Amino acid sequence: MFQNKRVVIIGGSSGIGLAAAKLILEQGAEVIIASRSSDKLENAKMELGKKTKSYVLDIAEEEQVKKFFAHVGSIDHLVVTAAETSGGPFLSSDTEMDKKMFDNKFWGQYYAAKYGAKTISPEGSITLFSGIVAYKSMVGSATLGAINAAVAALGKTLALELAPLRVNVISPGIIDTPSRRKMSEVARNQFYMGIANKLPVKRVGVADDVAKGILYLISNSFVSGTVLHVDGGHILI
Ligand SMILES: NC(=O)c1ccc[n+]([C@@H]2O[C@H](COP(=O)([O-])OP(=O)(O)OC[C@H]3O[C@@H](n4cnc5c(N)ncnc54)[C@H](OP(=O)(O)O)[C@@H]3O)[C@@H](O)[C@H]2O)c1
Repeated sequence: MFQNKRVVIIGGSSGIGLAAAKLILEQGAEVIIASRSSDKLENAKMELGKKTKSYVLDIAEEEQVKKFFAHVGSIDHLVVTAAETSGGPFLSSDTEMDKKMFDNKFWGQYYAAKYGAKTISPEGSITLFSGIVAYKSMVGSATLGAINAAVAALGKTLALELAPLRVNVISPGIIDTPSRRKMSEVARNQFYMGIANKLPVKRVGVADDVAKGILYLISNSFVSGTVLHVDGGHILI
């Protein structure tokens, strides 16, 4: 199905993006990964194989994103998992840090969609990333919730404006990826156990759960403008 298809994954050097890169490579596509750290990209290539192309790119920098797509040329699918997020009490939050988070996760995806769209085949797709805190309010996630909600709204309108190109959004729940390694192992396991006990599926997610969602969205040509919740039923509790 993906023979001769080119798929760009911005954020493909870690977590969900890396799992998606592996899964999509297995389907026979050419996968191009991009992120800021050349070390992370090199490590990812050890897992994906040396044939995988990689680019150092900061998605929050509009000019870099423009140049990246001009350089990469025609593609079939774009997936954007790039983000660096944080949380904390709203009243003591650092405004500049919160703006940086918006630059990274919202404006980054805006730039990628804007400059990527022109290079994607009309039968292709864009998959953007929102997240559970847009749908399930959590103390300490006011800014991230707003960013995730903004990405979901952007994606749905782009599905109309960029048609016939398909645009979809994934909203992951709590997924065990390197983004969660900022917590100590003990605190992280306690957090995971607390969430897992409440979830209908009784476990937190792994990157591959979400990678399968990405594969579904990019391969099903009848799906556009949707927000796919890959969250173990988190939205219901
Ligand atoms: N894990 C969860 O529980 C969870 C829950 C809800 C939503 N999500 C969303 O799912 C997506 C993927 O998260 P993840 O858990 O897979 O995170 P991750 O393991 O930390 O991976 C994030 C990737 O984005 C890249 N990145 C970060 N900032 C970037 C920038 N400015 N420009 C280019 N690349 C950048 C990172 O590489 P570099 O450091 O090399 O740039 C890395 O490859 C994100 O949108 C996240 O918010 C995750």
